[in-house]
Amino acid sequence: MQSIQDMLAQDRVLRIAHRGASDRCPENTLPAFRQAFAHGADMVELDVQLTKDGSLVILHDHYLDRTTTGQGLVAEHTEQEIAAYDAGTWFDSQFAGTQVPRLDDVLREFPDVCFNIELKSFPLSRSTELVDAVLSCVKAHDAMDRVLLSSFDHAALHTARTRSRDIALGALYCGRLWPAFQLAEALQLTSFHPDVASLDASFIAEARAHGYAVLTWTIQTTDMLHWAIANGVSGVITDVIDMPVLA
Ligand code: G3P
Ligand code: CA
Repeated sequence: MQSIQDMLAQDRVLRIAHRGASDRCPENTLPAFRQAFAHGADMVELDVQLTKDGSLVILHDHYLDRTTTGQGLVAEHTEQEIAAYDAGTWFDSQFAGTQVPRLDDVLREFPDVCFNIELKSFPLSRSTELVDAVLSCVKAHDAMDRVLLSSFDHAALHTARTRSRDIALGALYCGRLWPAFQLAEALQLTSFHPDVASLDASFIAEARAHGYAVLTWTIQTTDMLHWAIANGVSGVITDVIDMPVLA
């Protein structure tokens, strides 16, 4: 099994499946993760949130409405309530009956691959609870070295660092991160995660020269892919995991 550090040390552009193989499966579900790895993903990116009763579910939106048969805020529903919703039919009827997975389900089914777990801190007042629950789950699966935690909530990353010296952390951002290297040093970051519109070749070169990976999102076309590679990124977070140019 490769660790996150082994994975990032390779001299090639990594393919990271955004919410799984979300071009062919309902995002953030077990079928999407299976398909991503089956089609050569190096890693899967997924979004984790807290339920009302403190469980960890894999869902992007704060609201259930777009990708499940439920309605309202994830944070106002229990794990049991969310388990009863269908998270596949909105995408295609062939996925009817697909459930919202829990982080525990994901780490159990995939014991030997790497994940980029994005912490969706909502509400912000539960950010510490979210970090502690995620780290507890990751530790329970002995998965600390195959998980990269990322977040737009850099305070959550700080909490994670205070809890663990070893967990790999990546800072998500749009635009320019400032002061980037002071933040990276303070949080002992592994990676920067700019959106593709924020790519800056000179910053990327400097970041990589200092030993930080740069993973950009969301790459949807070969033109975008070429643009990202030309700017020197270490990996792309994409919905189209089998883009031919990456083969
Ligand atoms: O991790 C990269 C990307 O997933 C961040 O944006 O909105 O897709 O979670 P979003
Ligand atoms: Ca995400």
